[in-house]
Amino acid sequence: THVVSDSCIRCRYTDCVDVCPVDCFKAGKDFLVIDPDECIDCAVCIPECPVNAIYAEEDLPDHLGHFVAINAKLAREWPLITKREQPHPEAEKWSTATNKLGTVTL
Ligand code: F3S
Repeated sequence: THVVSDSCIRCRYTDCVDVCPVDCFKAGKDFLVIDPDECIDCAVCIPECPVNAIYAEEDLPDHLGHFVAINAKLAREWPLITKREQPHPEAEKWSTATNKLGTVTL
């Protein structure tokens, strides 16, 4: 599967959603996740993300490994998103920040 990681948090650009051929993105208030049961590993979303938040699971850096479980869990709880939306209102401010998971409630 592919995985949305920390960079998406409080950026939520949603460019990725428009290119996904199987509609595998689920949307929370502050970021998106990929449903591992739907993703077909086509990788077209990777270059769309302005903050490089998306990785193939096997390419995920060690320090982001926990996002595999986070995507799987939240994909079961959050609603489907199939169309691009406005970015998060604070997207620009947070686009270079790291370790943003602690700034949101899940
Ligand atoms: Fe997030 Fe990037 Fe998509 S910021 S919503 S993974 S385009």
